[in-house]
Amino acid sequence: MSIVEYRAGLEGVPATQSAISFVDGRQGLLEYRGIRIEELAAHSTFLETAYLLIWGELPNQKELESFEREIRSHRRIKYRIRDMMKCFPESGHPMDALQASAAALGLFYSRRDLHNPAYVRAAVVRLLAKIPTMVAAFQLMRKGNDPVQPRDDLGYAANFLYMLSEREPSPLAARIFDVCLTLHAEHTINASTFSAMVTASTFTDPYAVIASAVGTLAGPLHGGANEEVLDMLEEIGSVENVHPYLERALDQKSRIMGFGHRVYKVKDPRATILQQLVEQLFQEFGHDSYYDVAMALERAVEEKLAHKGIYPNVDYYSGLVYRKLGIPKDLFTPIFAIARVAGWLAHWREQIYENRIFRPTQIYTGLHECPYVPITERQMNGAQFSTAEYSS
Ligand code: ACO
Repeated sequence: MSIVEYRAGLEGVPATQSAISFVDGRQGLLEYRGIRIEELAAHSTFLETAYLLIWGELPNQKELESFEREIRSHRRIKYRIRDMMKCFPESGHPMDALQASAAALGLFYSRRDLHNPAYVRAAVVRLLAKIPTMVAAFQLMRKGNDPVQPRDDLGYAANFLYMLSEREPSPLAARIFDVCLTLHAEHTINASTFSAMVTASTFTDPYAVIASAVGTLAGPLHGGANEEVLDMLEEIGSVENVHPYLERALDQKSRIMGFGHRVYKVKDPRATILQQLVEQLFQEFGHDSYYDVAMALERAVEEKLAHKGIYPNVDYYSGLVYRKLGIPKDLFTPIFAIARVAGWLAHWREQIYENRIFRPTQIYTGLHECPYVPITERQMNGAQFSTAEYSS
């Protein structure tokens, strides 16, 4: 096969065939297994949506109940994983803690039998069940507290919020958080899903697949953007500062966090739903002035950048929801990961059932036939390294 065209970032290059989700970036349409995200946000739950994504069809009542029951009974994490997590530095980012703990699951559940449906089911259940517990455990342990045990009488979203604060959330808070998980559960072949698929294609274990995806999601151009959105809103501080901030950012050619998307050239449908959730939360728990700043910035960005197809993406309003729920900023991306585990697992399953190991090619731009210069004859190459980074 000859290479016809190189596209940086593989933009527009199909990397796989998939029946899991569909995005039309011009119409602002997102479907999971053919069902519109608006329908799922209004009527489904995160676990039902996860089942749909992973197994391909909506479960009937009995199937859903048994899936929920299995997940409930696997929420606890082994004390040795908790002990390992206790040794993590409390200053470390929770995404790094999550990546390490997800990978550690592979040490405890090491039997790899990818073609056995029971093994696949158990891995799906374990990952969906334990990832929220690990995120909540690290949050409490880094503050010097013992982790809170999961509560079997609470649903998936309510239990996570409970494990974070030891307080049972209101039904509205739990429902809104559950919808947030549904909205973040899957989004075609983005960077972290691609990472999961590449890892899956080697037939390694699913814990390594999820760990590699978590590491990819952590970057500020991907899942990490929602933290930066809140930093930005804090920096802007008031509606009056929106225009000066934007002018300055555009002059400096900085990215406005929470705006722009490789696929969507209109407002991300998930941002629209999240904005409605923000408003519901404010009606129940009181207004947040950062929302006024966010809306003013959205209008200002639209005036300046709509011609480039730059509109709010999923990260723009999610931070305001989580802030109102009392969730610390650096847990926003781990929460994204809790949700996206569903999509990553769906792609893992799809990949291993019709696998071909990923092995793309490259266009070599380096030198050829270079001599090996003895060390005594080499010139300084000009690179200066500081040792400050290694001081601790
Ligand atoms: N703010 C200002 N300008 C932007 C932004 C932004 N957020 N995003 C894109 N642009 C501009 C670029 O400067 C470029 O302008 P130019 O053509 O005049 O040079 C044009 O829009 C196209 O930009 P690209 O970099 O080609 O767009 P790409 O598709 O590669 O980038 C990305 C997508 C990485 C998400 C980008 O929009 C961005 O950096 N956004 C901010 C970070 C963010 O919110 N990430 C979360 C994405 S959603 C998710 O991962 C879950």
